Amino acid sequence: MREFIYYSRTAPTSGSYVTEDLQRSGRIDIAIHTVIATFFLSHKIRTDARLHLCFAGPPDPPKHLELKPVTEGKTGIDKIYLAKKDVSGVLKKMLYKYREGEKKEVFPGFWIEKKGFLEVAKGLTEQGRNLYILDPKGEDIRTVEIKENPVFILGDHKGLPLKELKRLKSYCTPVTIGPKVYFASQTIAIVNNELDRREADGRLSPSQSDLSLEDNTDDNISDAE
Ligand SMILES: C[S@@+](CC[C@H](N)C(=O)[O-])C[C@H]1O[C@@H](n2cnc3c(N)ncnc32)[C@H](O)[C@@H]1O
Repeated sequence: MREFIYYSRTAPTSGSYVTEDLQRSGRIDIAIHTVIATFFLSHKIRTDARLHLCFAGPPDPPKHLELKPVTEGKTGIDKIYLAKKDVSGVLKKMLYKYREGEKKEVFPGFWIEKKGFLEVAKGLTEQGRNLYILDPKGEDIRTVEIKENPVFILGDHKGLPLKELKRLKSYCTPVTIGPKVYFASQTIAIVNNELDRREADGRLSPSQSDLSLEDNTDDNISDAE
């Protein structure tokens, strides 16, 4: 399992703050693109990825939205119909359904809770996971050692805040994807590709759930390409 943590200092922390103008809704448009880059393949939804969206914008920060979409079973009962054109609707509903004091599963494989960014990252290291910060000044992703079940952390349009970055660098490996500064979603696409290539040539073992990739079809995706 590969995981991504996307931190946004401005993304809204209540459903009522998500308007039709997604850019003006605390740049939630970027979070939406990260969802698409994490999970959508051509005519398939990835089953080998999990995404943590850490939102720190108004009115009630922080919020941790965890996504590991269920792809098996009946749509509407066991899983939701995930469409690229309505990721905003899914995130908005998750924010609306937040309940104080619990980690609430809003849809199968979509949870929301009140938890800060550093706490999410720390929790994953405590589970023995290896964390990598996506940072233009890091080691080259083509040559760096990537351990099994890696977790990659990335920042918003302004990057990762310096204080948090300093803390993370004490237990995460900084990794660069190349000489330019890319969108957060482009960064995820490149990391996904690098991991796919390593798995394909045996340099990284595929997670068990990846083996069922062929089973999920357009039935899960309404706007497949
Ligand atoms: C749009 S970029 C942030 C731009 C911001 N102005 C900055 O300089 O940090 C969003 C995120 O993508 C990741 N990223 C972008 N380019 C990268 C690169 N070349 N290598 C590694 N990560 C990168 C970083 O995690 C960054 O925080």
